[in-house]
Amino acid sequence: MSSLTIPPLKEDLIRVLIDADTIQRRVSELARQINRDYADVDKIVVVGVLKGSFIFAADLCRALEVNHSVDFIALSSYGSTAKATGNVRLIMDVRENLADKHVLIVEDILDSGYTLDYLKRNFETRKPASLKTIALLNKQDRRVVDITLDYMGFDIPDVWVVGYGLDYAEQYRTLPYIAEMRPVG
Ligand code: IMP
Ligand code: MG
Repeated sequence: MSSLTIPPLKEDLIRVLIDADTIQRRVSELARQINRDYADVDKIVVVGVLKGSFIFAADLCRALEVNHSVDFIALSSYGSTAKATGNVRLIMDVRENLADKHVLIVEDILDSGYTLDYLKRNFETRKPASLKTIALLNKQDRRVVDITLDYMGFDIPDVWVVGYGLDYAEQYRTLPYIAEMRPVG
């Protein structure tokens, strides 16, 4: 990570909200917590929610000591606009059968809560041995659906953020930090 040159902020990014070092430290802490909580479990299935969680999921998994497999699921709720509709669609399912498995859902950000609420309900029907959720970011002010996370990285204000997997119109996903976007429109 430290060998990367940090890209300068583009014009439509207002400020760095969470720098790369702070993210990495928090990811390590979360992994330690997960390692402790699953210490008595043989194996877990980590399910990253595409695309936003791909970098967080990759960093988190590499800090896990508990045996794990990695799978992904793709959902869509927004279309191309930044407005929650509650209209969640399953675009791509996991490959693994989740029955009797210890499943950890990895999300980039919890906003309205519609996506994770849909996913939790959907996964519960598959009868996992246990189901937990982690999100790197949480926009509490935006919550519509009452939902609690098992693990959470950072509380952030109600602003659009990009970087570390998160995008605006498919841009900025690979920035090593989380930055605040200038409001559009
Ligand atoms: P929810 O269903 O409203 O909780 O939306 C969660 C999803 O919306 C996340 O998984 C992201 O893909 C997307 N999202 C919400 N807020 C942001 C943001 O500030 N930046 C990038 N993506 C976001
Ligand atoms: Mg997402």
